[in-house]
Amino acid sequence: MARIAHLSDIHFGAHDPKIVAATEDWLRERQPDLVIISGDLTQRAKVEQFREASAYLSRLRAAGFPTLVVPGNHDVPLYDVVRRFAAPLDRYKRFIDDDLCPWFENDDVAVLGINTARSMTIKDGRINRDQIAMVGKRFAAVAPAKTRILVTHHPLFAMPIGEGGELSEAVGRHRDAVEAVAEAGVHLALAGHFHRTYAEAALKMVETAGDVLVMQAGTATSTRLRNDELQSFNWIHARRFDEVELQVIAWDGTQFKRGSHERFTHDGNIWAAQTVIEQRDLQK
Ligand SMILES: [Fe+2]
Ligand SMILES: [Fe+2]
Repeated sequence: MARIAHLSDIHFGAHDPKIVAATEDWLRERQPDLVIISGDLTQRAKVEQFREASAYLSRLRAAGFPTLVVPGNHDVPLYDVVRRFAAPLDRYKRFIDDDLCPWFENDDVAVLGINTARSMTIKDGRINRDQIAMVGKRFAAVAPAKTRILVTHHPLFAMPIGEGGELSEAVGRHRDAVEAVAEAGVHLALAGHFHRTYAEAALKMVETAGDVLVMQAGTATSTRLRNDELQSFNWIHARRFDEVELQVIAWDGTQFKRGSHERFTHDGNIWAAQTVIEQRDLQK
């Protein structure tokens, strides 16, 4: 089994320092096998903000945790137009990771990160043909018993984002991406961007989505909340390729606590939530 902490949208520059420190305390206590951060490490892609994000990652790595990080749309400079188009992820590469498609593999899981942040679109993401080809290539060599996990900042699928059930835009070129993900036998698709936690079988949202279980993380440490949902991150136990537990670890104003706990199993056709071990209550 792999125990994975999935944090997203940490937004240094619009972060709460005491919540940042609380994530570190929580992680040190639980000792995850992997810490994933699915983008928006900074608020405005400023050097100072990247320095803080880099120091945070260094502290996690010094504590002994492998990390896998992808950039988000906030990690591309918004107002510095020259930098935005000439070298959109220059600072990300300098301070965070030169590799925009990181890979992690151990005895239980294989995890691929894909960069969906682009300079042409302010907030929507995109995936290109080389990245789509890479999804197939990287997972082809993985032993069948391992849980295959894909990490992006922008979700590949349209997500419910409002109270009225409105759906978000899916990532650009998502039809090809969804097909590649299904062909590669990806089990879990992790993303962020909406500052909202959510887990659902992709097949219920997109007919061609294959066997993917979608897990969205909220914002772990940003002070900018959506729909009054408090800061949170996902604590994932990938037990087998067909059994995953998700605990949403939510900030309650003073500490991180378990907000909900669900077990998902795959019956050969689709993922389904088997047990709601605790009800979720993530509203303010
Ligand atoms: Fe964000
Ligand atoms: Fe974002």
